[in-house]
Amino acid sequence: MSEHQQPLSLLVLISGRGSNLKAILDAISRGELPAVVTAVISDRSQAPGLEYARQENIDTLALDAADYPDRKDYDRALQGLIDRFEPGLVVLAGFMRILTAAFVRHYRGRLINIHPSLLPELRGIDTHQRAIDKGVREHGASVHFVTEDLDSGPVFVQLRVPVLPDDDAERLAARVLKQEHRLYPQAIRWLAEGRVSLNGEQLLLDQLPMQQPLQIDADE
Ligand code: GAR
Repeated sequence: MSEHQQPLSLLVLISGRGSNLKAILDAISRGELPAVVTAVISDRSQAPGLEYARQENIDTLALDAADYPDRKDYDRALQGLIDRFEPGLVVLAGFMRILTAAFVRHYRGRLINIHPSLLPELRGIDTHQRAIDKGVREHGASVHFVTEDLDSGPVFVQLRVPVLPDDDAERLAARVLKQEHRLYPQAIRWLAEGRVSLNGEQLLLDQLPMQQPLQIDADE
């Protein structure tokens, strides 16, 4: 970050454990990520991950889907809440809800997600078991801009993890998650530094069209 550049303000959405949120907060504390988390919002008031934010005196809010008649109303309320903080980037970190098209359009180019597979492979849930069932030798995680189609927005960075012969879904999930904790702060860093952006449908790296996702090596 240059001397005059403001840190990127992040609003993080979580549903549960929040280990990716913790990895982001840790990277910021270590000075490795020029960003600040302005608030964390969960669709579950009991999400354990909210505690990481509270420990750092970051605003936490819970918005329970049961209080809204439908997805449209929920997303409208969520959008109102998010926009109060005027974030530069909205970060989905294990936020397990399908978002409406209007919501996604509103944040186009500044809404990202981490998904535990090498997209476009294995969209949706249970990715680790499905990777094992398919017999693939490589699995991993992807960070992408969110668009209207589930897990289908432009992927700008991926990290590959080998599938080992004695892996079960739990072991594989743990190894991928450990790597997600390196991948997500690095991905956000590129956005914070203005190196990666989305222009219409086109991903840009250093202002030039990006032909394929950046790759980060697994550190094991
Ligand atoms: C992570 O593995 C993330 O990739 C995944 O949920 C987990 C959240 O863990 N997200 C998705 O599957 C989104 N489709 P965390 O709460 O410990 O960060």
